[in-house]
Amino acid sequence: MTTADPTAGATAAHDVTDLGLAAAGVRRIEWAEREMPVLRLIRERFERDRPLDGLRVGACLHVTTETANLMRTLKAGGARVTLAASNPLSTQDDVAAALVAEYGIPTHARRGEDRDTYYAHLNAVADTHPRLTMDDGCDLVSLLHSERPEQVKQVLAGTEETTTGVIRLKAMAADFALGFPVVAVNEAQTKHLFDNRYGTGQSTVDGILRATNILLAGRKVVIAGYGWVGRGIASRMSGMGAHVAIVEVDPVRALEALMDGYQVMTAGDAAAWGDLFVTATGNLNVFRREHFAVMRDGAIMANSGHFDAELDLAALREMAEGHVKEVRTNVQEFDLGGKKVHLIAEGRLVNLGAAEGHPAAVMDMSFANQALSAEYVVQHHAELGKQVYVVPQAIDEEVARLKLAAIGIVLDEMTPEQRAYVSSWQHGT
Ligand SMILES: NC(=O)c1ccc[n+]([C@@H]2O[C@H](COP(=O)([O-])OP(=O)(O)OC[C@H]3O[C@@H](n4cnc5c(N)ncnc54)[C@H](O)[C@@H]3O)[C@@H](O)[C@H]2O)c1
Repeated sequence: MTTADPTAGATAAHDVTDLGLAAAGVRRIEWAEREMPVLRLIRERFERDRPLDGLRVGACLHVTTETANLMRTLKAGGARVTLAASNPLSTQDDVAAALVAEYGIPTHARRGEDRDTYYAHLNAVADTHPRLTMDDGCDLVSLLHSERPEQVKQVLAGTEETTTGVIRLKAMAADFALGFPVVAVNEAQTKHLFDNRYGTGQSTVDGILRATNILLAGRKVVIAGYGWVGRGIASRMSGMGAHVAIVEVDPVRALEALMDGYQVMTAGDAAAWGDLFVTATGNLNVFRREHFAVMRDGAIMANSGHFDAELDLAALREMAEGHVKEVRTNVQEFDLGGKKVHLIAEGRLVNLGAAEGHPAAVMDMSFANQALSAEYVVQHHAELGKQVYVVPQAIDEEVARLKLAAIGIVLDEMTPEQRAYVSSWQHGT
């Protein structure tokens, strides 16, 4: 098993809740590491090759056990990393403490921080003048471009973890506003096919169950968005016996949901039908005043999209006229007069706000892509334009190959005859 970083001398710069939680954090970080064999192999190589030697990395990521293992990997590669949270409610305080006290990684993150503290923490990262940004949701890149334009040219490149961040970055590039190249880690197949689908699918159910302890069998569950995240949540909910309905705006995705065996409805029809509502669209106000008005007594809402914008919380608060109370940890009850509806984790990412986020085994692949993409941009930034790039296919395939090898799965190879067959056009009926 690994030990804490022996080079961690003076306490790294930080703003965390309680350094006394570090020992508990180390235990959980090491537990996660057991499930992250690909990242561990990369860390061992990084220790030897030091591909990020001296590179200042500014990271804005969910401060979880898996992220801690990514930070250790970057540090092993020679990077000088500073970390802030990418969501006010996703920080695991023991992990933040361990990063500072045991691994010597400057960390600025407190679970439940308010908006001002969130941005103070992002600014603390920006103050280190990062040469590489590593974002989950584009908040760090956005801060640098909007408030510190003079720093943008110091940045060699960035990486981005999630769908919402990639959408924001593509909008910046289309506006010619993006000041450096960014690799969209989310676009790697070994990221979104597994992390968004199986990781969020499982951990969203986990968050909802930890918060409410409801029975899913027989329950009517409405999922808004049938993208990678929505598909994962739908299949897990249905696997536990829920009746699932999908709300979509894209006709192809809606058809796919229908043929996968789910009902497809408008948000208006679903609002009156469902017991539990989960949003995963990356969009704004998917459920709003008119939907809350027709939801049944006891309805429960949660969001698994990146921002807490998918449920119109301002309207919900207004409708409850101050009659809001916490009825369980991470569950608020809104008394709408005649009925009560419930909200989990303040409408923030439910899997991180009410559970621990994705299982480490899936983050192994996402963060292997992050580490290898960081190495790639260090080597290739001079050839890249101010655009959003997909993860090179060679990295994607390497991550899949290493993951299969770590699980002990061996694949067939095509025979020479088969290789010739699939590359020729002469063979027919
Ligand atoms: N909770 C997590 O840990 C986690 C992990 C990965 C991604 N995410 C986030 O989840 C969100 C979805 O990610 P994804 O990869 O599934 O994206 P995606 O683009 O694959 O899917 C989003 C789907 O939502 C649909 N949609 C958009 N607006 C809608 C509306 N008004 N009503 C109904 N459907 C609508 C789109 O048509 C699309 O099919 C993003 O915000 C992403 O950043 C969260």
